[in-house]
Amino acid sequence: MELMFTEEQLMMRKMVRDFAQTEIAPKVESMENGEFPRDILAKMGELGLMGITTPEQYGGANMDFTSYIIAINELSRVSATIGVILSVHTSVVTNLILYFGNEEQKQKYVPMLASGEYLGAFCLTEPSAGSDAGSLKSKAVKDGNNYIINGSKVFITNGGEADVYIVFASTDPSLGSKGISAFLVEKGTEGLVIGKDEHKMGLHGSRTVQLNFDNMIVPAENLLGQVGEGFKIAMANLDVGRIGIASQALGIAEAALEESIIYAQQRHQFGKPISSNQGVGFKLADMATSVEATRLLVYRAADLRAKGLACGKEASMAKLFASKTAVEVTTEAIQVFGGYGYTMDYPVERFFRDAKVTEIYEGTSEIQRLVISKHLNK
Ligand code: CAA
Repeated sequence: MELMFTEEQLMMRKMVRDFAQTEIAPKVESMENGEFPRDILAKMGELGLMGITTPEQYGGANMDFTSYIIAINELSRVSATIGVILSVHTSVVTNLILYFGNEEQKQKYVPMLASGEYLGAFCLTEPSAGSDAGSLKSKAVKDGNNYIINGSKVFITNGGEADVYIVFASTDPSLGSKGISAFLVEKGTEGLVIGKDEHKMGLHGSRTVQLNFDNMIVPAENLLGQVGEGFKIAMANLDVGRIGIASQALGIAEAALEESIIYAQQRHQFGKPISSNQGVGFKLADMATSVEATRLLVYRAADLRAKGLACGKEASMAKLFASKTAVEVTTEAIQVFGGYGYTMDYPVERFFRDAKVTEIYEGTSEIQRLVISKHLNK
């Protein structure tokens, strides 16, 4: 596996691994208690992690896509909360502006996002439009030099904390998904109302909110891409974004495996370490094999993206497999820990809670299968 990484990528992996251990690990408990990790994000900004793949001209670290996936992987081993915050911020906000924004929009927003002074949120999902994202109901009506947007969004990662929201709304409902447009909305915009905070099973340090748009006034110049291009913009970025979530799931599974191996070697029953029992040893062998297979799928998808090649099918495969692995491996980790695994004294119960959502957000496992099967039938 090491052979796949360049010297530069290995150096950045070490840097992120050290950072995660020294700066993030001590804050895991406060994040578990619901504290949003602003201070960690500021330090990540200083290290260039909030704009890893952003070109230098927009204030980024200009590293390749695989380096970004390595960073999400390493951060998520310690905190899946940090993994998802960075993944959404980068994959579906900064990159989306870089690919579809005009020069003025890029100059205005990207350097602030790359430095970590701004945080981004991606607002697609609605109460009645989850997997069927194309059926969203939020409406944007042109009014002179502005659009007036009404509607609501749910499950918005980084919502309430973000400085820039990418909002998808229909400019022509008669056209279905082809009538959706994308808008850049700044924090504090009139009519942008932060709604209920979701109390989630896991990822307690990551904020997830409902948003309401109450006659929200957005300048027409904040239209991102062309009118009616919004759905394609969202889909194209989700293609890539799913590699980030796959890498987050990989990080969770790796952490659960690592903790399980250590515990199984230390825990003695019947006069010997439980790892020397086949019942536990074979479980660890299966967990390690699934993690290794996940690693190959995730970095294969990342490599395609890094080379600028089509990666939609591979990204969905990586997300599907990685999230399944994360759920299975964290479940087995609790089994290895036995009663202790079910307590909050050990991290495996957190890994288990954090893993589940990787099968749900950025497209459920069922949607990944749909995307993969569409590719197979092309
Ligand atoms: N790239 C570019 N264009 C695409 C595309 C892609 N990946 N997928 C579809 N399109 C285009 C199609 O080409 C089509 O346009 P044409 O007719 O001009 O060819 C148009 O979009 C409609 O395509 P479909 O008919 O295939 O669309 P659909 O309505 O059947 O939906 C879907 C497809 C794959 C089910 C899609 O709705 C989907 O991905 N749903 C899941 C939504 C999702 O992932 N939400 C995640 C929210 S963000 C999040 O979770 C972040 C977080 O907090 C972690």
